[in-house]
Amino acid sequence: MNEELMPVARSGSRSLYKPLAGQVAFVSGSGRGLGRSIGEVLMELGADLAIHDISEDAPAQYGEFPSLTAVADAMATGDARAVAVTGDISSENAVNEMVERAERKLGPISILVNCAGGDIGAKGGKPDPNTAVNFLLDDLQAVVNRNLIGTMLLSRAVAPGMAERQSGSIINIASIAAHYGASNEVAYACAKAAIVHYTRCLASEVRTAGVRVNAISPGPAKSARFLATRAVDPLMMEEGPSLNRYATASEIADVVSFLATEQSRFVSGQIIRVDGGAGLYAA
Ligand SMILES: NC(=O)c1ccc[n+]([C@@H]2O[C@H](COP(=O)([O-])OP(=O)(O)OC[C@H]3O[C@@H](n4cnc5c(N)ncnc54)[C@H](O)[C@@H]3O)[C@@H](O)[C@H]2O)c1
Repeated sequence: MNEELMPVARSGSRSLYKPLAGQVAFVSGSGRGLGRSIGEVLMELGADLAIHDISEDAPAQYGEFPSLTAVADAMATGDARAVAVTGDISSENAVNEMVERAERKLGPISILVNCAGGDIGAKGGKPDPNTAVNFLLDDLQAVVNRNLIGTMLLSRAVAPGMAERQSGSIINIASIAAHYGASNEVAYACAKAAIVHYTRCLASEVRTAGVRVNAISPGPAKSARFLATRAVDPLMMEEGPSLNRYATASEIADVVSFLATEQSRFVSGQIIRVDGGAGLYAA
């Protein structure tokens, strides 16, 4: 059977299909939430993985895992190797050190997923107030730092090596909030919109070197943090044939895996909205 046509195994089963064998992925924010699911899927497809979070205890914040080391231990099954790295993605030094450590342990990074981020203000929790004219400068800077600046610093640390080796895939996690105007959560929406445009700019810069850069914009998705920080709509929790519901983490991770593998080899500079068709508008 043609390998490209073989089904990809879902969580719980071990696939023999390993299109990412020999590749090294760095997934920021993979200690928990959507990033952890993305890391799991990439490892299932054969990639070695640098599992990253801001601190060793970040995976425990919403009860997912006791520590980053515990996440790395749970993920490192089969042939693929995992290494845990910690640090703030908005710090130049931390980013450079994490990339250096990951590459020393695993080899050159060929897949970078910029997933760390979120709508978290300077003192933790959602910024409040958070409108276009009502916001605190500290909150705005914190949100831009952990989303846009972190994505740009990690890409700057990794993309030149990819360009030198003439291959690589960078996948940025934006949000549907990037695509429409709203009167609340403005700092986050603007930071994610900037990630969308950075995706295009970086794609243009590394295009002739054979490096691909894409983004996905998830709609509401059931990470532990998402569920713990709002009143969820029980109807949107149901998983069935209807697309009018929250996404599962693996539905986001599967689109990332498409962008990481050769199946998307001629796709670059694109933004894929993964929202079950909730937002049916151009751009
Ligand atoms: N869950 C959703 O509904 C949803 C929707 C759209 C976009 N997103 C985006 O997907 C990504 C993952 O979200 P999630 O729901 O899994 O939330 P999450 O809070 O569980 O994951 C975010 C991760 O980023 C890490 N992080 C945050 N700031 C950091 C920093 N400065 N340095 C290093 N690590 C840092 C966190 O510790 C955590 O591991 C985020 O970028 C988020 O904005 C989520």
